[in-house]
Amino acid sequence: MTLKQFVNPATAATVLAAAALVGIAFHGTRVRADDIGGDASRIQQGFAIAPVPLNLKGKDPALVGLGSYIVNAQASCNDCHTLSPQAEYSSGGIPYFGQHPTIVNPAVYLGGGRDFGPVAGPGTPDIVSRNLTPDKTGLPEGGHTFAQFLDIMRNGTDYDHFHPTCVNGVLTGTCLPAPFDGALLQIMPWPILHNLTDHDLLAIYEYLSAVPCIAGPPAPSILHNDCK
Ligand code: HEC
Repeated sequence: MTLKQFVNPATAATVLAAAALVGIAFHGTRVRADDIGGDASRIQQGFAIAPVPLNLKGKDPALVGLGSYIVNAQASCNDCHTLSPQAEYSSGGIPYFGQHPTIVNPAVYLGGGRDFGPVAGPGTPDIVSRNLTPDKTGLPEGGHTFAQFLDIMRNGTDYDHFHPTCVNGVLTGTCLPAPFDGALLQIMPWPILHNLTDHDLLAIYEYLSAVPCIAGPPAPSILHNDCK
């Protein structure tokens, strides 16, 4: 059966209208979780599975809860944005050792630093995941605004210009040679994550601003965060 046979035009119109209403509800200042079928349980589960204490001051709790659900149950952000697979879980709660329950290591949670090696070949910089925790301004991942975060998640823009494209193909140890576009984040699955709705990306952003700050290595490391 094709989708066309399955969904009649009247139903489709109703679904679209409902989606528009949901969008309005969520873009208002207060989110009413009970308005949206399914989201209430995801928000609740999001709070239940958050592996760190959350700072809800000035935040929209429904967005934080939903963001936690997406980050911790769906998008596996911490699998990459933590120091290493070895450091990701705490002793006694390492799932791959058969230990229960799983204990995520809060000391490195979303602090970045996982080294994926010189993905563009010998003589090119290692690609390292970034620190996503909020700094003292309260803005997540190094003080980026939501508009910048949207651009990062949708287009892979690297605001830190950490590994520009090599000029005339000359390797410097810090640049990426063509055909790599050094202006874009590598490894980071933005070509998948860009399919998320604005609302879900807002929820992720709100959640990332509620997790504890991780200072990381001292400046000028790109992983450093001013927590105080
Ligand atoms: C497969 C590994 C992987 C996963 C999963 C992943 N990331 Fe990333 N992410 C990276 C890497 C690696 C970088 C840095 C890439 C570079 O330097 O080119 C990065 C960069 C970023 C940046 C840019 C940070 C900055 O300071 O500019 C943001 C924001 C980000 N990731 C958010 C997320 C979020 C949110 C999730 C989950 C929804 C996520 N990432 C999941 C690997 C990953």
